[in-house]
Amino acid sequence: MGIIFHEETKTFHLTNGEISYIMTVLPNGHLGNLYYGKAIRDREDFSHLLELVQRPMFQYVYDDDRLFSLESVKQELPVYGTTDYRAPMVEVLQSNGSRISDFVYVSHEVNEGKPKLEALPATYTENDDEAETLIVTLKDSLTGIKARMLYTIWSDRPVIAKSVEYVNEGTEAVHLTTAYSMCLDLPDPDYQWMQLSGAWARERHIITRDLEQGVQSIGSNRGHSSHEHNPFIALKRETTDENQGEAIGISLVYSGNFKIQAEVDTRNTARIIAGINPDTFDWKLDAGEHFQTPEAVIVYSDQGLNKMSQTFHKLYQKRLARGEWRDKPRPILINNWEATYFDFTREKLIAIAQKAKECGVELFVLDDGWFGARTTDHAGLGDWVANPDRLPEGITGIAEDIEKVGLKFGLWFEPEMTNKDSDLYREHPDWILSVPGRHDSHGRFQYVLDFSRKEVVDRIYEMMAKILSTAKVSYVKWDMNRSITECYSAALPADRQGEVFHRYILGVYDLYERLTSTFPHVLFESCASGGGRFDPGILYYAPQGWTSDDTDAIERVKIQYGTSMCYPISSMGSHVSVVPNHQTRRETPLKTRANALHTSEHLDMSWI
Ligand code: GLA
Repeated sequence: MGIIFHEETKTFHLTNGEISYIMTVLPNGHLGNLYYGKAIRDREDFSHLLELVQRPMFQYVYDDDRLFSLESVKQELPVYGTTDYRAPMVEVLQSNGSRISDFVYVSHEVNEGKPKLEALPATYTENDDEAETLIVTLKDSLTGIKARMLYTIWSDRPVIAKSVEYVNEGTEAVHLTTAYSMCLDLPDPDYQWMQLSGAWARERHIITRDLEQGVQSIGSNRGHSSHEHNPFIALKRETTDENQGEAIGISLVYSGNFKIQAEVDTRNTARIIAGINPDTFDWKLDAGEHFQTPEAVIVYSDQGLNKMSQTFHKLYQKRLARGEWRDKPRPILINNWEATYFDFTREKLIAIAQKAKECGVELFVLDDGWFGARTTDHAGLGDWVANPDRLPEGITGIAEDIEKVGLKFGLWFEPEMTNKDSDLYREHPDWILSVPGRHDSHGRFQYVLDFSRKEVVDRIYEMMAKILSTAKVSYVKWDMNRSITECYSAALPADRQGEVFHRYILGVYDLYERLTSTFPHVLFESCASGGGRFDPGILYYAPQGWTSDDTDAIERVKIQYGTSMCYPISSMGSHVSVVPNHQTRRETPLKTRANALHTSEHLDMSWI
């Protein structure tokens, strides 16, 4: 059990009685994959699972050998162009213009537990005996780039977590133009690919289709994981249903631009890669620097989709979400947005809170419009100081008023944004993402702050921390209401502009980390125009998220069912709202709306 290494055959067997993940050092020193699936008995030699076969038009690695080609061999860190033509997991652009590399096994270590990933969210262990981690180090000797491949296997969950750290031990800078988190080469493509896709107000609908020869992928290049595609896919056999059959779930613990891709070659192997979207990524790695990829979590089930989902739920609820609120029942909240939009006064808010108290509500959330010159969506974002005309006693005063009614008080922020009509923008026009000399596109009249810059994150932190440390705020709704355009940072040189999207999301994580650790009693709920950033990365900081802006009970059933493929019920903020519904104009009975709150349990919804 655990991580077994067979020295003679250089074979790694990660097993916990439920699953086996078997790798070996290939004849050229690269790391190959031999098996992934239901647990199999250990043996010294699994080399019969390595396909060495002569085929017309194959290219071969060695002069005197017509068997060893990477063309359809299963690999852990495949590179392009050294006999393999499938999509690579890593691409290193070197100073001579070459993108060819050769990552060869150097050493490995096995540790109890699971290490933290620097500056990135990841699943964790609380006790060392919960998991073991294998780190296999490979090196490209010409450039001096080391790849530290991390594999964690849980002792009592059918879960493997993978990521890679690149270290430049060479003397020259290189560019990582592709750095996925994982590659899973499967020996056959007889799967149905299931994705969670949609748009604003119809997020995470289930789409299923057969894997076919060629490439299929989902992803985001919008700066956030997006309403359109979620960083999750499942592969299931044709006969798999909720309760029986094989399913593999792949989930990326990341909130920025991502891609998950399946490539089926004409010899019918299936390569699944997942990680940061290389289309919008180019990371300069100077000599001495290192780069950590986000984590990918792979779940295996031989008992249908239900077991896969349950495995994700248990892991994400207890070993991804963190903090005081992880294990506590969440308060029933009332939010003033659809009741008042921007048109509220202190008196209106108190009246809503009083009525809510009578209904058993526990928390009142003051949404958009309480700060700066924010009486419409044209102004005020970035000025996180209460508007004295609306709230004469400030946030301290309204929080006390609400507490007097007998409810806890929560507050809306949109920390990553600014309006051009704001004091923040007037003071720091270069703090938005914007290309010099070019037009700035807007979304909802707002612009995206350059969170790749520490001074920007510092300033927003100061403003938010001031409110959270002076007023009785028990809850924060962290919104994010537009995708990034004209992605360019005034603070980075030309050869580092390909880093901005990833640095931006690192800045978001940094702000979340600072706020959640300084204010551990505050419940953070993430929101991105509803479900535009509902992903495992954010779940590490905010234990619940706004599932969708669509609060229509019927639409919600589909949205919550899709979401439940990967995400625990505890992570889904569910709503009952007025009828006719503000998004769909549909009328449903109150009972239906209340019942829809519970449909996030993973039921068979095929009747819908
Ligand atoms: C987004 C959120 C809503 C609300 C508004 C406020 O649309 O999803 O819940 O907070 O912003 O502007």
